[in-house]
Amino acid sequence: MRAVRQIIERGTYMKIAVITGASSGMGREAAVQIGNRLAGIEEIWLLARRRERLEELDGRLPAKIRCFAIDVTCEKDRKKLKDALDTEKPDVKILVNAAGFGKIGRVGELDIDTECGMVRLNCEALCAVTHLVLPHMSPNSRIVQFASAASFLPQPKFAVYAATKSFVLSYSRALGAELRGRRIFVTAVCPGPVDTEFFDIAETTDQIPLYKRLVMADPRKVVKKALRDSYMGRPVSIYGITMKAFGLLCKVVPHDFLMYVLKT
Ligand SMILES: NC(=O)c1ccc[n+]([C@@H]2O[C@H](COP(=O)([O-])OP(=O)(O)OC[C@H]3O[C@@H](n4cnc5c(N)ncnc54)[C@H](OP(=O)(O)O)[C@@H]3O)[C@@H](O)[C@H]2O)c1
Repeated sequence: MRAVRQIIERGTYMKIAVITGASSGMGREAAVQIGNRLAGIEEIWLLARRRERLEELDGRLPAKIRCFAIDVTCEKDRKKLKDALDTEKPDVKILVNAAGFGKIGRVGELDIDTECGMVRLNCEALCAVTHLVLPHMSPNSRIVQFASAASFLPQPKFAVYAATKSFVLSYSRALGAELRGRRIFVTAVCPGPVDTEFFDIAETTDQIPLYKRLVMADPRKVVKKALRDSYMGRPVSIYGITMKAFGLLCKVVPHDFLMYVLKT
């Protein structure tokens, strides 16, 4: 009865999308594709620190945009999102958590803020934003969490990043199981290397191996597949045959052997 009442009440609320990491790469691409393809979305709430990059999308999408120039790792900043959600009481039809960063380098050689910063952004902020948005989601909504193919296998010289993405994959699959009864579908997106600004940051400390450069994917295609998988209710989205094969390999071959062969 409560659920029926909620659906009826929700019908009157503004339907929105919430996207973190919307100032570049796959978050920005998600905003463009959701804005252009998803019928019924009235506003897209964009979150990232660089306001000017968010505002570039203003007037370029069929839906209205609202910019939150915030650091999602900062609780005080996240309160701005919480206050807006509590005041407007929108119906969030899709949440995309794309904010994330990784830096290549051995544990202990990267500075402590960088190592812990990956955990704070990729894990803690993703959980916090999900927690804030969840009460504002109704049945038949979607959560798209950006994990990575790095979640499939521990990665020496990318150890903290790969571990944060294993967290995202595990968390998202469990969350999806918890929310199935509410008909909220959670998809963990696990791409291999994607051609975005990600590597401008990742490679400030060291270079990625050559084989990763060779399988670099187009962000538009990765996001298109992620959104399609999300709408099909799939728990995991992996773009490309190479990464699907890699995922399978990581399930059947001992990880120590793979780490030795790949010399990651
Ligand atoms: N590119 C790849 O090869 C690849 C592969 C697999 C998975 N992924 C994952 O996919 C997601 C998207 O990556 P991408 O390739 O699109 O990277 P990107 O182009 O570097 O975008 C990262 C986004 O995160 C935002 N961000 C970073 N720190 C933030 C903070 N403290 N608060 C708020 N926003 C913050 C950035 O905006 P501001 O700087 O404006 O704050 C930016 O919009 C990430 O989770 C990444 O780990 C990437």
